[in-house]
Amino acid sequence: MRFDILTLFPGMFDGVFSESIVGRARDAGQVQIAIHNIRDYALDKHHVTDDAPYGGGGGMVLKPEPILGALETVLDAETIARQKATGQIETPVALLSAAGTPFDHDMARAFERFGQIVLICGRYEGVDERVSELAVTHEVSIGDYVLSGGEIAAMVIVEAVTRLVPGVLGDMRAMVEDSHANGLLEYPHYTRPATFRGLSVPDVLVSGDHARVARWRREQALQRTWERRPDLLEDAELSKADRAFLESLEDQQNAPA
Ligand code: 6GU
Repeated sequence: MRFDILTLFPGMFDGVFSESIVGRARDAGQVQIAIHNIRDYALDKHHVTDDAPYGGGGGMVLKPEPILGALETVLDAETIARQKATGQIETPVALLSAAGTPFDHDMARAFERFGQIVLICGRYEGVDERVSELAVTHEVSIGDYVLSGGEIAAMVIVEAVTRLVPGVLGDMRAMVEDSHANGLLEYPHYTRPATFRGLSVPDVLVSGDHARVARWRREQALQRTWERRPDLLEDAELSKADRAFLESLEDQQNAPA
């Protein structure tokens, strides 16, 4: 999997991409990450990358020339133009922006299948719209809040996509059972000691009864999702037993005190 990141702040990525799962995947050659400094592609001698907005108002807007210049060192101009013209995406060009569509597990999976993506880090005030008109295939947000720029969002996407690259997670089971992979939030985890500050591990987990453990975990995942993210239950794959359990939660809630 290859990631090309276009940014005005290349130094922000150093630590994040050299540690943990992403760092290991890079060292193992399972992912390649190239950081491109947009400033290097500014055309004037002072390497100016932003300018005042047409129409007035506050803030500065990132100029289109340096971004397209940087992009064309990563993808050839013909490919950029062709995928915009046909809608047939070969390599996603994603602009990180608070105004984008929300990033989720399905989008991470889709990006992984392309084998390469380009991430353009905007700054919060904005990017000249012609970058989108000419080159961007996906405008992506990581949540309903405002960041100063797309860099941290790009890190989020790189990490989420890297975890889906075959071989990156040694234990395949961990991935399959992850939150969101099955459309539900994860069940709670416990490790030693059996009692910590007066709090004991649930008996079922030390019972040795694998079927009971599996049922308890499933119900915990269902209950958490029902409490915290009921919207996810719309698309989750639910068995008859799952639906019965959720109905029991509804009944409990509706029961008079
Ligand atoms: Cl991708 N960029 C910025 N600037 N703010 C955001 C965001 C991205 N996602 C959520 N907020």
